[in-house]
Amino acid sequence: MNILQFKEAAKERKLSMVTCYDAWSAKIINETAIDCVLVGDSLGMVVHGYESTVPVSLDLMVRHIEAVARASRNKLIVGDMPFLEYQQGGSHMFRAVQRLMQAGAHAIKLEGCDGFVDDIASIVSSGVPVMGHLGLTPQSLHQLGGFRVQGKNEDQAQSIRRQALELQRAGCFGLVLECVPSDLARSITEELEIPTIGIGAGSGTSGQVLVFHDLLGLQSDFTPKFLKRYCSGFGVLRGALAEYDDEVKAGAYPCEKDHSY
Ligand code: KIV
Repeated sequence: MNILQFKEAAKERKLSMVTCYDAWSAKIINETAIDCVLVGDSLGMVVHGYESTVPVSLDLMVRHIEAVARASRNKLIVGDMPFLEYQQGGSHMFRAVQRLMQAGAHAIKLEGCDGFVDDIASIVSSGVPVMGHLGLTPQSLHQLGGFRVQGKNEDQAQSIRRQALELQRAGCFGLVLECVPSDLARSITEELEIPTIGIGAGSGTSGQVLVFHDLLGLQSDFTPKFLKRYCSGFGVLRGALAEYDDEVKAGAYPCEKDHSY
């Protein structure tokens, strides 16, 4: 799927997106009709064990985008702009955009917009598709006071709505709405012409995104209300590893007939 197909598809049906951090998962996603993959900076927490996405560097994002791009076929690849890279503006910002795109992203995603709308518009003018991200913007967790639902009071809701319109005016092709009340996400989606992709934002958005490891149940300790697990990955893998351990210790694996030369 390319950016034009993304926009066309959004007029007809819901869009599906999933995070993807490596070549292995990209190959599995290739075997599905999922529309697009997000090399999200959530990889810092999910794969590298950081407490937040703040420590994720541009170099780290570039390595993961390269790995995904090597294996991904026919999926729109959106690469996350890491903490405080685009906010530095000017040549620093464009160098960061260049590195993400040259690593293999087809579009970039960036969090927030207040104070930086002109910078975002200039990235779009340079020919790079930009996806916005509002609501719970994890890079701002210290300002937000933690990972919590945003837009529950009228002031917050108006601020998210205003920023969504500003991002659309700046030329963004889509917008992630993370952890906001359903009604707010639905009404912003109705007001915008660009598609919205929700996570913890109810069913009224133009599409959904989930973290690969979350939807496959690979993380046993992450249980937000919005998450539906489509598989019990953690238990399945733990069971297989325990069986391997048992068989090695019992001398049952490898067997001479099937697994030996
Ligand atoms: O980094 C990420 O994975 C994200 C999604 C959760 C939207 O930004």
